[in-house]
Amino acid sequence: MILGIESTAHTFGIGIVHQGKILANVREMYTTESGGIIPIESAKHHKEIAEDVWKKALKEANISEDKIDGIAFSQAPGLAPCLIEGMKFSKKKSKELNVPLIPVNHCIAHLEIGRITGAKDPVLLYASGANTQIIAYEGGKYRVFGETLDIGVGNFIDNFARLIGQGFPGGPRIQKLAESGKYIELPYKLKGMDVAFSGILTKLRQIYEQGIPAKHLCFSLQETVFAMLVEAAERALAHTGKKELLLGGGVGCNTRLQEMCKIMCKERGCKFFVPDKSLLVDNGAMIAYLGEIMWKKGVGIYSDNSEKEKIDINSKERTDDVYVRWK
Ligand code: ATP
Ligand code: FE2
Repeated sequence: MILGIESTAHTFGIGIVHQGKILANVREMYTTESGGIIPIESAKHHKEIAEDVWKKALKEANISEDKIDGIAFSQAPGLAPCLIEGMKFSKKKSKELNVPLIPVNHCIAHLEIGRITGAKDPVLLYASGANTQIIAYEGGKYRVFGETLDIGVGNFIDNFARLIGQGFPGGPRIQKLAESGKYIELPYKLKGMDVAFSGILTKLRQIYEQGIPAKHLCFSLQETVFAMLVEAAERALAHTGKKELLLGGGVGCNTRLQEMCKIMCKERGCKFFVPDKSLLVDNGAMIAYLGEIMWKKGVGIYSDNSEKEKIDINSKERTDDVYVRWK
């Protein structure tokens, strides 16, 4: 049984996995009424609730601590103060229980959890807060075929939400407001398989200041940027010849984005996969899930206490920096 700890940004989560099955997935999120995420405050939040989340996860899985065979944690990438809290807690628990520590890359965990849906060799549209990438496995690594040239799509949505007076996270509120909106043309920023959002944000700010109702802007934002993402994903499918599309990351919760992906896949004769919402947003279960895959293959595992001490966070590690030794 592998326990996974997530702490890269706003969410502190603990999941427990056994043989690819999720036994527990408990998450507590740092939120704000207005304004964005303050890394130090989020880290403080994680530290305060860690023990409580730990107990809840064990209770949800209905197991005692001594059943845990290893502890996986998000080592990279993310906000350094948040990563450090998660790592400290993971090291402490792994030493107390005398079980191996398994550092994992958070973005790759978002990817690997997609296997739970039955996807075998997909192109992944990874749309989260800080990241927006089109990824596919080739030659020992998850290669990035396209990505954002500036900010992540979730951060873009959250920035716009803040502008119109909504708190964090903005995605669900924008989706709600979009339901009654009408289409207004916005810039469409797709270059090859790369996307860019900051110009669209500037344009949105200008139109908003002209007094156009926020609901129309929310609707148009969704139609425009999701079309960009889906077109980039389609190009990657065409380029790689792969026949599956997997959606990942918190923005993947958006039902309009899911619908657009579904339509594109149907037209191309591809299969579309999307994990449950609880596995799309940041969560501990995906960390445990990847941890278990690595643990079974015996790669990237630290059993010795002095070895564990040497492990550090890697806040800037990229998806294609990681050599996928467990495949
Ligand atoms: P990363 O994985 O890059 O570190 P993260 O940890 O911030 O980023 P997630 O938890 O995967 O990301 O996703 C959070 C993002 O998802 C937020 O930006 C939030 O606004 C967005 N989001 C959540 N629900 C929706 C929705 N229904 N529509 C659009 N965006 C959404
Ligand atoms: Fe994430």
